[in-house]
Amino acid sequence: MCSYIGTATLADIPEIKACDLVCFPEEDPVTYSSLFKDSILSPHRVVYVAEYDGRIAGYVVVKMLEDELAGEEEKECRQGYILCLGVHPTYRNLGIATKLMTAAENAMVQEYHFEYVYLHVRVSNHAAINLYAKILGYQIHDTAAKFNIEGEEAYVMRKQLQGKQPHFLGHRFTHGDGFFWTKASLVLGWLLEKLFIAR
Ligand SMILES: CC(C)(COP(=O)(O)OP(=O)(O)OC[C@H]1O[C@@H](n2cnc3c(N)ncnc32)[C@H](O)[C@@H]1OP(=O)(O)O)[C@@H](O)C(=O)NCCC(=O)NCCS
Repeated sequence: MCSYIGTATLADIPEIKACDLVCFPEEDPVTYSSLFKDSILSPHRVVYVAEYDGRIAGYVVVKMLEDELAGEEEKECRQGYILCLGVHPTYRNLGIATKLMTAAENAMVQEYHFEYVYLHVRVSNHAAINLYAKILGYQIHDTAAKFNIEGEEAYVMRKQLQGKQPHFLGHRFTHGDGFFWTKASLVLGWLLEKLFIAR
């Protein structure tokens, strides 16, 4: 099960990279290999990972922008930009991307007091467009021509952030913690069962 959504560490980089290569086989791995290290070390970026059965199942990288990339009408607002989001194919359709994005949006609101978040998504990426539009409430704000090396068009999607949403950030269980909680839930289950039978 998904046991952790939280801040990535440098030790996570090999697994994040492996996941990224599967999610974006068309991207240049050399460009992307430095992205994660730079992002984890940068105070202006947030990298969250999702752990599932002890493996990195997905990641999101957010860039915190001041004004430099904002459109004319948004010069005054500080906003977040989703640099990349990926979930390993083995762990898709389990709600992991939704949780990662929600955690990232909460960080933008609570830690950076941002009002907007935006991203680019290829017009043919229906899975991601559904996630952003139907589940997370992003709207198409603009289009960008020749977004990737194949020259495909992308949507610029944007969302106004509104306060705190359900949060999924968690404590990363160490082996010992996991053992403790497994034991604790077994004992609790046993007690509840006894109580139920006693009635
Ligand atoms: C897009 C992606 C991140 C979704 O990850 P995920 O963990 O499977 O997403 P979730 O389980 O949180 O799905 C939430 C919603 O997204 C949409 N969605 C996800 N996969 C979909 C698919 N294959 N087809 C259509 N809609 C899909 C659905 O609306 C889904 O809600 P539902 O389950 O109620 O129908 C994942 O498919 C991925 O990593 N793709 C490759 C990389 C990529 O395209 N990243 C985004 C770049 S902008």
